[in-house]
Amino acid sequence: MAETSTQSGGRPSLPMAGIPQPTREEVTKLPRVHISSHPVMAHKMTALRDKNTQPPEFYRLVKEIGALLAYEATLSLALEPAPIETPMAPMVGQRLAGGIGVTPILRAGLGLAEAFREVIPDIQVWHLGLRRDEHTLQAMEYYNRLPHKVDLQVAYAIDPMLATGGSAIDAINILKLRNIPRLSYVCIIAAPYGLLKLSQTHPDIDIYVAALDESLNDVGYIVPGLGDAGDRQFGTF
Ligand code: PRP
Ligand code: URA
Repeated sequence: MAETSTQSGGRPSLPMAGIPQPTREEVTKLPRVHISSHPVMAHKMTALRDKNTQPPEFYRLVKEIGALLAYEATLSLALEPAPIETPMAPMVGQRLAGGIGVTPILRAGLGLAEAFREVIPDIQVWHLGLRRDEHTLQAMEYYNRLPHKVDLQVAYAIDPMLATGGSAIDAINILKLRNIPRLSYVCIIAAPYGLLKLSQTHPDIDIYVAALDESLNDVGYIVPGLGDAGDRQFGTF
């Protein structure tokens, strides 16, 4: 984890030290920001955050929380008429109009992508690898399998943690190059600092959050948060 990171010369690297941060109250009413108020979500979040929750259970909870987020984030998707016959009579049903894309930000976004697939099996998964440098907190792209042929009504960038907002902003910048009609961002925990930055940089997207936390610590981790979401999913401590 980044708490032990040092710059060359052995000095501790504290990239967020002294940087002013907005409060929770200052960001809860931002336009197009949706923060879950579902009691089942709150219940599962407590188990997820608990430091005694081990990787197999943690990964299962990420998928359960991801499924709840997928329901919330797909509430306003467009439908089109779908004529069918039931065993009893013809009827005009409805089906989703246009494809749905999900971009997990590797690697911690992989569990959420599984959750979206369970809710909507025929999504397209567009993988994007971004890794933030623990000294500067800048996100760096290292993997990109975004197709050039776009036939989507919406794409969701998904990542458990919105900390400084750098990874989320870069992911949306990259998705915007594909001219997808509608983009959204989905995360499990957001810090007010990153949420404000993402909302101000990309005011045209919807942002779905399971929980809004207090702040970032000096090394850019969310407090109270859950620690390192990638390490806790994949057991790489
Ligand atoms: C974590 C997390 C986000 C990013 C958030 O990933 O999953 O992608 O940090 O931080 P930010 O808002 O300050 O950009 P990390 O870069 O640690 O990679 P990992 O998923 O491989 O662990
Ligand atoms: N990435 C994580 O995994 N956790 C944090 O708290 C911040 C960034």
